[in-house]
This record gives sequence, C-alpha cells and structure tokens, in this order.
Amino acid sequence: MKYSYCGLSGLQLPIISLGLWHNFGNNDNFDEAKKMIHFAFENGVTHFDLANNYGPPPGSAETNFGKILKDNLASHRDEMIISSKAGYLMWPGPYGDGSSRKNLMASIDQSLKRTGLEYFDIFYSHRYDGVTPVEETMQALVDIVKQGKALYIGISNYPPAEARQAMTYLREQHVPCLIFQGKYSMLHREPEEGIFDVVEKEGSGFIGFSPLAQGILSDKYLNGIPPESRAANPDGFLQKEQITKEIVSIVRQLNLIAEERNQSLAQMALAWALRKDVVTSLIVGTRSMKQLQDNLKTIDNLSFSDDELKKIEQVLS
Ligand SMILES: NC(=O)c1ccc[n+]([C@@H]2O[C@H](COP(=O)([O-])OP(=O)(O)OC[C@H]3O[C@@H](n4cnc5c(N)ncnc54)[C@H](OP(=O)(O)O)[C@@H]3O)[C@@H](O)[C@H]2O)c1
Repeated sequence: MKYSYCGLSGLQLPIISLGLWHNFGNNDNFDEAKKMIHFAFENGVTHFDLANNYGPPPGSAETNFGKILKDNLASHRDEMIISSKAGYLMWPGPYGDGSSRKNLMASIDQSLKRTGLEYFDIFYSHRYDGVTPVEETMQALVDIVKQGKALYIGISNYPPAEARQAMTYLREQHVPCLIFQGKYSMLHREPEEGIFDVVEKEGSGFIGFSPLAQGILSDKYLNGIPPESRAANPDGFLQKEQITKEIVSIVRQLNLIAEERNQSLAQMALAWALRKDVVTSLIVGTRSMKQLQDNLKTIDNLSFSDDELKKIEQVLS
C-alpha cells in the first residue's frame, strides 16, 4: 500500500480505503465481509469508512464492523483510521436527519455504541442540509473533538461556498477540517470545478467516494446487467436506467485503453482519480474478495503518459 498525507495534517491515509456503504449490512454475506476487512487490513488498507445509515438495515454495517473488529482485530485499533458520519435520514422524527447539533450529538453516541468503539478517528457532517447554519453544525463537530469522541473532523457533500465557510470556522476554532469527502470519478468530475480549489487553499485533504461510479467503471456492464450487481438490485442506489447505451460505449472505449495498459478498467479508473495531488485517498466499495484484490493491484501502475491522459480525455469529453 502507499500512503499519502491528508492535506497539511500529520495524518497519512492509504491511497485506497474501504467503504462499507453496501455489502456489509445484514442482508449481505457476513463471511465475505469479514474476509474483505481482514484482507484489506493485512494489505495495508488502514482506513475504513462508515456512516450511521449504512446497511441495510441502517446501522447494520456499523454493528457488523464492530463485531469483526472485536472478534479478531481489536488489538490493532491503533493501526486503523475508522470514520463515521451523520446527516442523512437515520431515525424517525425531526432529529434523526439533517445537520443539526441535536442530530450529530445523538448520532455519534449511537454509532460509538453500535461499533463498540471508544472514539472515531474521523467524524463527518455527511451533508450540508441547506437549512442548519454552517456554524451550528461545525460547532457540534468541534465539541465532538473536545469531548474525545473523534480525533479529527471532516465534511462531505458541501457545496464549495459552504465548504469554505465551514473550513474557515473550524480553523478559527483550532479544530481544522482534516478532510473533505466528495464523489469523484471519471464519470463525475464536479470536484475539479470548485471543491479541489477550496481544499487546496484550506490545506485540507480530499477523499473521493464512488470512484468506480458504483461499478460502472469496470467491465461488468459491457454485456448487459449481471444478476449479481448493484444495478440489478431494485433497492440499490444504482438504477438500471443509469446503464445507458452512451455510458456503455464510453466504458467500452475506456476498457480498451485499460487493456493497452495491462490493467483492468477498475484499476485504471482508480489510478486516474488518484492522478491529482489534491486527492489523498479513494474509498472503494467491494462485493467480493476478487474485486478487492483487483482494486488493490491498482498501486502497481499509477502513472499515465501524456498520450494516455489525452486519449482518456477524448473519450470523456
Ligand atoms: N459521503 C457520501 O455521501 C458517500 C456516498 C457514497 C459512498 N460513500 C463512501 O464511498 C464508499 C464507496 O462507494 P461505492 O460503493 O459507490 O464505490 P465504488 O467503488 O464506485 O462502487 C463499488 C461497487 O463497484 C463494483 N466494483 C468494485 N470493485 C470492482 C472491480 N474490481 N471490478 C468490478 N466491479 C467492481 C461493485 O459493484 P457490484 O456490487 O455491482 O459488484 C461494488 O459494489 C462507500 O462504501 C462509502 O464509504 C460516501
């Protein structure tokens, strides 16, 4: 594994981290989940990303991760960076959703209980909810650090202007924003238009989620929608309708470039998203050991020639 400093902080993250949004809930294969966590950690993936609502059912990814940790990995706690988040719908009523102080304070306690952890390494405001003043949410995060429930603070899914405001507030309170978590892949390049700039100016790190566009950036959808795939799951976040002819045509062209580089498309997509210094790490989601092994081999070839980058740009534009 390779590690990268998170912005101007002293914390290093593996350039590939593992996320538990899908595949680690109660409806998933627990043995495979356990194998993946172990294999990832044994191969230097020190960072595991959670949120209160990951499952399904919501909360079960944290509970399952806690079990796996307690059974076999508890003695390695100091070698791990474990994150969680609050901000999306988790429990009924006005306090189980959004970015209020009430929601964040209750949610971190629930997440600590489910995981059995004494503290999270990183705790995030999962989203800017459009209503709660940024200062209210950020002060809750500052207090969470002061209470010893998290070591570092992050924000996720904030528009650039609110992200800048949040980072300024946190800096002034002497709890700088360690990291911004945002969606970033060959098929979703929005951070290049604003957030990267904010993050660089503030000296924060950036961690990209869904770097494989939920699996689209692999060879799995080239010949239809396999039954064992996120797009085939009617309850999943990737809808069949998103696998359009146009997308498949782009993916097919990218796959040819990946073949020329002797890489799988998943590996090339990850290497591509890591090409900018501002990107500290990427959070991949994996359904199986095979996918995890494939993704971890990305580090064997991270560099691109100008010609390759140009060809990729032509396909994407
Ligand atoms: N902050 C936020 O709001 C937010 C939002 C979303 C995600 N996240 C974080 O980011 C993490 C990753 O998100 P994601 O799961 O969407 O990431 P992703 O890596 O883009 O997609 C994961 C899916 O891609 C497929 N896949 C992975 N490796 C593959 C390979 N080598 N070959 C073929 N297919 C492969 C699998 O799909 P199949 O299941 O179809 O096999 C897997 O479930 C989450 O777990 C979470 O921690 C954060």
